[in-house]
Amino acid sequence: MRLGVNVDHVATIRQARRTFEPSPVFVALIAQQAGADQITLHLREDRRHIQDRDLELIKELITIPVNLEMAPTEEMREIALRVKPDRITLVPERREEITTEGGLDVLSMREYLKNYLKPFKEEGIEISLFIEAQREQIDASADVGAEAIEIHTGKYANLWNEHKFEEAKRELKKIKEAGIYAKGKGLRVYAGHGLTYHNVKDFVRELKGIVEELNIGHSIVANSVIFGFERAVKEMLNLIKS
Ligand code: PXP
Repeated sequence: MRLGVNVDHVATIRQARRTFEPSPVFVALIAQQAGADQITLHLREDRRHIQDRDLELIKELITIPVNLEMAPTEEMREIALRVKPDRITLVPERREEITTEGGLDVLSMREYLKNYLKPFKEEGIEISLFIEAQREQIDASADVGAEAIEIHTGKYANLWNEHKFEEAKRELKKIKEAGIYAKGKGLRVYAGHGLTYHNVKDFVRELKGIVEELNIGHSIVANSVIFGFERAVKEMLNLIKS
């Protein structure tokens, strides 16, 4: 599997003091040097971590693909079409949430998304939708013109972290079935959210060959504070490439 390193929470530390360090741009370069396959970042409407300038600089300086997570708003569309990341990943966004709590309800936004996504298609920017492992959301994703889906792994990660291993296994099975179904529809399948150095191992064992890429942020940034960013990325790469 490929690894997309999400650098949002480097910016979270910086924004805690509204200062200039640590820089997610600097860290993105280190992740690239350490062997990451992609840099992922989420420009939130409230700008709580990544700022517009971070996105512009990362797009300018990074040579591996850049994946911009964003809410499907007009403001974000304008920014994305100007900066032109390699991929956009549409995510639901609520101001009061600590992190992205669920998948995008593509089903209820079908007509809106068809229109919304047109200019991205024209620009050749890959379109991925962050969804729950549900057939109706996969069908709707293919219908609105997505090329890929990213399956929300938050539930699996939480169950594993609470040592509810049987339930976690059932959740993995659900993700596997959804992944196979999505591939059958011609969609590329990615996954992420809440994955750690511990819970990622079972995920990789079960989903190898189905999920092409994982996007991981918090656990890498958290461990980088202790071990350094290069080592944090390399150790995660070791786990997911094994
Ligand atoms: N994928 C998507 C679509 C996300 O929104 C996030 C969180 O920003 C992640 C992956 C990474 O999640 P985590 O920081 O929990 O690894």
